[in-house]
Amino acid sequence: MGAGKRLLRVLGGEAVWPPPVWLMRQAGRYLPEYQMVRARAGDFIALCTTPGLATEVTLQPVRRFGLDAAILFSDILILPWALGYGLAFREGEGPVLPKLGGTADVAALDPAGLPARIAPVLETVRRVRAALGEGAEDAALIGFAGGPFTVACYMVDGRGEKDFPATRHLAYADPVLFAGLIEVLAEATIVYLSAQIAAGAETVMLFDSWAGLLPPALFARHVIAPTQRIVKALAERHPGVPVIGFPRMAGLSVGRYAATTAVRAVGLDTTADLQVAAGLLPDGVVIQGNLDPLALLAGGAAMKEQTTAILQALRGRPHVFNLGHGILPDTPPEHVAQLVALVRHA
Ligand code: CP3
Repeated sequence: MGAGKRLLRVLGGEAVWPPPVWLMRQAGRYLPEYQMVRARAGDFIALCTTPGLATEVTLQPVRRFGLDAAILFSDILILPWALGYGLAFREGEGPVLPKLGGTADVAALDPAGLPARIAPVLETVRRVRAALGEGAEDAALIGFAGGPFTVACYMVDGRGEKDFPATRHLAYADPVLFAGLIEVLAEATIVYLSAQIAAGAETVMLFDSWAGLLPPALFARHVIAPTQRIVKALAERHPGVPVIGFPRMAGLSVGRYAATTAVRAVGLDTTADLQVAAGLLPDGVVIQGNLDPLALLAGGAAMKEQTTAILQALRGRPHVFNLGHGILPDTPPEHVAQLVALVRHA
């Protein structure tokens, strides 16, 4: 043991101490160097699909903080966009999409057009991988996609909502249509993640940020089943490449999620009690998480106390230190540097 990048060793089941650290949404508005590139790109989709700029913003937090992973700079909504679905990012408003209404909208999704539209994203993956070293201390490259249910939330409600009422209603009111949408998204996700791995991603993560909105039966159907299908298809095409699942706010369902989907690692959100969650997970499933982004924003003693508690709770088992959700835009970059130092000197 001991050879290979730290993140990949942990995902392979090794308890590395101190644990590797990276942060969800580590590239973004809290970094002045990101703001500069973002301004140059103008449009957010242009930033995601211009390999030179996307490579630069992917590498910025890795260079600044010496993190153990680079995560491809893109967005979970690039997948519906690559299927020909409308998408715009408006200043101060976030993503805006057409509201999916009926069968014709699902039939209009265009998987045949996907390869051409994701080509620039794959070029970014190749460039980032080439820029990262291959040594034991170098950062590993994480590819990603949204969980089909979370992507469906934005397609049906048409924008970020507190609890996506139109999506949850549609899942009950037209189960055939909704299942059809999830199926198209799951198949496209397999193609997309498989292509990211072929281009150089060393692990992939599924961000199912709104999974916790569903009651258990629908969680099984629209979160667990498509994730299981994605993990199985990727394992057949790319044996040994670990998948990290992030069924945010899944609560007590996290054990069933991990056992059924066969993900290698589970990202835990800020509400997860680590002792309870560890008891629910099958042996060998790696835990990623789960510092509250607000503790990082606040910094100081609160951040230190919470960080130490997480590190101690998971000491001795494979753990990837991370937040329980993405970095908030007002986070002082110095707090991130201090957090990385806390983990490194644990
Ligand atoms: O650094 C990284 O983590 C890699 C890039 C990344 C982005 N989005 C860039 C981004 C990743 C992994 C995501 C995931 C994502 N996108 C999720 C899942 C994780 C989560 O936070 O729950 C979701 C739900 C989205 C959809 C999305 N994209 C929303 C709701 C918004 C607007 C709100 C916001 O946070 O800005 C985005 C925009 C977005 N995606 C930005 C970035 C850096 C900000 C856009 C800008 O610079 O103007």
